[in-house]
Amino acid sequence: VCVCVLHFSECADLMTAGSRRCIVVSTLAEACFYADHGFDDIIYAYSLPFDKIERCAALSEKLDLFQVLLDHHDALQQLKRRPLKDGQLWHVWLKLDCGNGRAGVLHSEPEALSLARAIAGTEGVELTGIYAHCGNTYSCTGVEQIQAVAQDTTSCVLQFMEKLKAVGITCKSSIGSTPSCSHPVQDMSKLSEVHPGNYIFYDVQQSMIGSCSLEDVAVRVLTRVIGHCPQKDQLLIDCGWSAISLDGAGKLPTGYAIIEGHPDLKLSSMTQEHGRLEPISGHLDYSKYPLGTLLSLIPHHSCATAMMHPVYHVHSKGRLLGTWNPTRGW
Ligand SMILES: Cc1ncc(COP(=O)(O)O)c(C=O)c1O
Repeated sequence: VCVCVLHFSECADLMTAGSRRCIVVSTLAEACFYADHGFDDIIYAYSLPFDKIERCAALSEKLDLFQVLLDHHDALQQLKRRPLKDGQLWHVWLKLDCGNGRAGVLHSEPEALSLARAIAGTEGVELTGIYAHCGNTYSCTGVEQIQAVAQDTTSCVLQFMEKLKAVGITCKSSIGSTPSCSHPVQDMSKLSEVHPGNYIFYDVQQSMIGSCSLEDVAVRVLTRVIGHCPQKDQLLIDCGWSAISLDGAGKLPTGYAIIEGHPDLKLSSMTQEHGRLEPISGHLDYSKYPLGTLLSLIPHHSCATAMMHPVYHVHSKGRLLGTWNPTRGW
């Protein structure tokens, strides 16, 4: 599972059913944080940054299984220049771009096979697996479109595995994103691993894509009415972009978030610590929103919102069960 959305060990504990094994992170700060909390078998699923080779080496030498990801020959050269102590191997995933268009070597390019062969053939380095992230499911709407992308990505990876097999290389295979793993296709069972992360919270974006329903979304930002602005027909709230992020910009009829229980309100603008709510139609009835009124916002993208807060309050059925403390940085 990808724990990059979460940054705290209690939740990653839930996601791994207490095993504290088999996690994916996107920053080294997360990798160190989880390693310090007893997690192992960690994939740092981010095209290897050269300034962080030494820290990656330290984690590789400390943990049972720390794995890095690369998509360029230069990165392989960097690993070659820093052999691990006592003959330990660098565990390397090759990042394949199967249409997502972010990082990765394009699956159809001869370069992809040549890089895989180079990794497998390098002393001190092991080709652990092929990693594709189908982030292009985020531009889908509905199960059919999600599954078409999931199928396409899976087929690309499985075909690539066949090419590897033909040259005598076997290793793991994986794809993953919350939309694809929420509606998996049969062929995904042929992969060694999948790596969703956002599903643990879900969010408005996922409900619009069709990964989940709005009732499945488990994260809220609570905010208070701190001002009435009748001249503009607006309410001022103590939630700006530093509390919920600008991720929802222009994507929702209700503005940057959904205001739970108030479908008639729109979070229309924000500065760093202030937000402005206005009615979608008609005029505000200020008697419904006295100063101090608590409102609950459902974020557009919980990963972005999660990054904004130093502590999480965990509720179940109206009861506070505890707090979770995230990690930060790179
Ligand atoms: C490389 C990688 N793997 C897995 C994930 C998890 O995907 P999702 O956020 O759709 O659950 C991400 C998220 O961005 C990612 O970048």
